[in-house]
Amino acid sequence: MYNIKTLNSISEKGLELLSKDEFMVSNEAENPDAILVRSANMLEMEFGSNLKAIARAGAGVNNIPIDRCTEKGIVVFNTPGANANGVKELVIAALFMSSRRINQGISWAQSLKGKGDEVPKLVEKGKSQFEGPEIKGKRIGVIGLGAIGVMVANDAVSLGMEVIGYDPFISVNAAWGLSSSVIRATSLDQIMSTCDYITVHVPLGPETKGMFNKEKFAIMKKGARIINLSRGGLVVNKDMLDALDDGTVACYVTDFPEQDLLGNDKIITIPHLGASTPESEENCAVMAVNQVKDYLEKGV
Ligand code: MLT
Repeated sequence: MYNIKTLNSISEKGLELLSKDEFMVSNEAENPDAILVRSANMLEMEFGSNLKAIARAGAGVNNIPIDRCTEKGIVVFNTPGANANGVKELVIAALFMSSRRINQGISWAQSLKGKGDEVPKLVEKGKSQFEGPEIKGKRIGVIGLGAIGVMVANDAVSLGMEVIGYDPFISVNAAWGLSSSVIRATSLDQIMSTCDYITVHVPLGPETKGMFNKEKFAIMKKGARIINLSRGGLVVNKDMLDALDDGTVACYVTDFPEQDLLGNDKIITIPHLGASTPESEENCAVMAVNQVKDYLEKGV
């Protein structure tokens, strides 16, 4: 019998693949053989002597102490691509939100509650403050061309945008499934300096931490809109706040609400909802559970 610990709620569609005769699944398991995790922070967690595998139901593994796992021979799995469509759909929504000031408009309209018959007149007078550009014909830079980045790039092409892609780790020509209409950038600076919209889809690591910083803002096209549904640490918040203040950046959409980013009219904060769809949760859980099952049962 294998003990499996769940650190977050994991979709039943995945858990039901673990037969009750062979696997005991609990969020209280002591000294488990494997751990299933979504976003819980495991960086300081002590590992028991039985632990053989950790499977993250998601793509990023920055909540797992990879070096410590490697030292102890604990295998770490993730589920790249399994939630890509869920994240991609929110990125497309963010693109529109950043342009059309949708969420500011909604909050303002809600604030008219109680104004009675005055509402239509107030709307007529007030709506011009929420005007924003259409995205068709504008240039978007997609940084990171894994499963999510490629989907975003291809959808942006269908929305009539001029799309330019770059990946800090692989040759853009190797990006699998990328539309031939996507321009292949030769450097990150080419994206930073020419795009009206920039969306970032790279993992957080030593090479990417703080990649949006004052040096990059200094070369950025004035009035760019930046979408970051990847990891908060990719952006130096203080430098972003300065860039928003001086108009270099017109809008920042982040899926990582941090204290210093709240309450700023030019920042749209989403509570890390990229993969919060039943479809993504199921896909990730099924992939993560199969990985753990195969590893414990067959060692692969
Ligand atoms: C991921 O790493 O897969 C996404 O950020 C979504 C998530 O953390 O669940």
